[in-house]
Amino acid sequence: MASAAQLVEKDYFTDHSVLLDPYDYFESIRAHGPVYQMRSRDVVVVTGFAEALEVLLNTRDFSSWLNPDPLVALPFEVEGDDIAAQLASVPSSPMELMVSYDGDRHAAARSLLNPLFTPSRLKANEAFMRAYAEDMVRKVVAAGGCELVNKVATPFVTMVIADLLGVPAEDREAFREVIDAAPPPGNMDAPGSDDVIHPLMVMAGYFTRYVAERRAQPRDDVMTEMALAKYPDGSTPDAMEVVKSAMFLFAAGQDTSAKLIGNSMRRLAEDQVLQQQLREDRTLIGPFLEEVLRLEGSTKATFRIASCKTRIGDVEIPAGKRVVVSLSAANRDPRRWDDPGTFRIGRPRIKEHLAFGRGAHTCAGAPLARAEVAVILERFLDHTTSITLDEAHHGPAGTRTIEYEPSYIIRGLANLHIKLA
Ligand code: HEM
Repeated sequence: MASAAQLVEKDYFTDHSVLLDPYDYFESIRAHGPVYQMRSRDVVVVTGFAEALEVLLNTRDFSSWLNPDPLVALPFEVEGDDIAAQLASVPSSPMELMVSYDGDRHAAARSLLNPLFTPSRLKANEAFMRAYAEDMVRKVVAAGGCELVNKVATPFVTMVIADLLGVPAEDREAFREVIDAAPPPGNMDAPGSDDVIHPLMVMAGYFTRYVAERRAQPRDDVMTEMALAKYPDGSTPDAMEVVKSAMFLFAAGQDTSAKLIGNSMRRLAEDQVLQQQLREDRTLIGPFLEEVLRLEGSTKATFRIASCKTRIGDVEIPAGKRVVVSLSAANRDPRRWDDPGTFRIGRPRIKEHLAFGRGAHTCAGAPLARAEVAVILERFLDHTTSITLDEAHHGPAGTRTIEYEPSYIIRGLANLHIKLA
């Protein structure tokens, strides 16, 4: 077991040994203060709740330009105390996504998602979720078990987003294949590479066609609403911006939700008392999920760059400094959370956790994520009397073999084999 001194030396972006327990790693960093200059990289890591909030809410001093790839090279030399103009003047790349936009450009891109998250749209989508989850869960229960993460959770969330967007039924399988083959965001085996671009490029091809068709011949569907949406100032978005907003939902809503299903199910399978509690009182599913999001949310970190000389807490931050906002660590900050390492349902103000971020870039899909994970957990509890880990794959309690996705963004199991009875 590495000591705190050894842990703090590790490179968060490439060292797989940090994957098993990133919380220990972030605790070793927290010991040096809520804002810490990494030794292995010219990056500052924020582990404090208040400090993380400060950065996420301060879009004036902190740009999302390098999100979600904190190691990408800056195409200019940092000079002086303000680089906002230089960041804004970097030519945009066709694959740049709204999570890296700032200011008005960001607000405009985000407004294109509004047609998707209306109550009526979410309601229709929830009906699809329930039917699809019912069908999937019945099949795996009949089989006595399954590998949950890749065979159930990932296809489920893919189809939920495809339905939300109104992707034609005949194209949905192609989307699923592309996504199944994609590496995780924040891939530790290729940090700084753009290997996530390929799946998005494939999807861009489909969405470009959908948007062009809907603009030429509008239909009564959500894709048409997106294709014909205007920016808040009344201007017409470039078709590519609509395409990017649509396909970003797959990038943002895929691994995140699928891994939350995995993290939640593992906790239930490992804690039979907790499982029984939820079986007896389904109203606990919501508070249960919030505590999983706080303690083991599926997004470990997000990233910013200081667009001017500024401060985080009482630490001075020069312009151009890269910032890792550890959502995982902020959600376990003992200054904010009582007994933070303990799983406790019913914590007061639990929804203040930062698993979905905060501020201008706060997760647009949070309501959908909460709904889809609750729906599928409920189906599993409905159709089973017992959910346990498959020891043939994971070994006995106390000496489990558990594999995590090699990602510095996503906290999630690479696979989870469960027995269902
Ligand atoms: C458990 C599941 C999820 C988690 C933990 C999660 C987490 C996050 C976080 C932390 C951010 C903020 C990033 C930042 O500030 O830099 C974010 C942004 C975003 N998420 Fe999620 N997300 C989840 C599911 C989803 C789903 C299902 C969708 C849509 C289908 C979605 C769509 C988005 C979008 C569009 C953004 C970008 C918002 C912007 O830049 O304005 N997310 N998500």
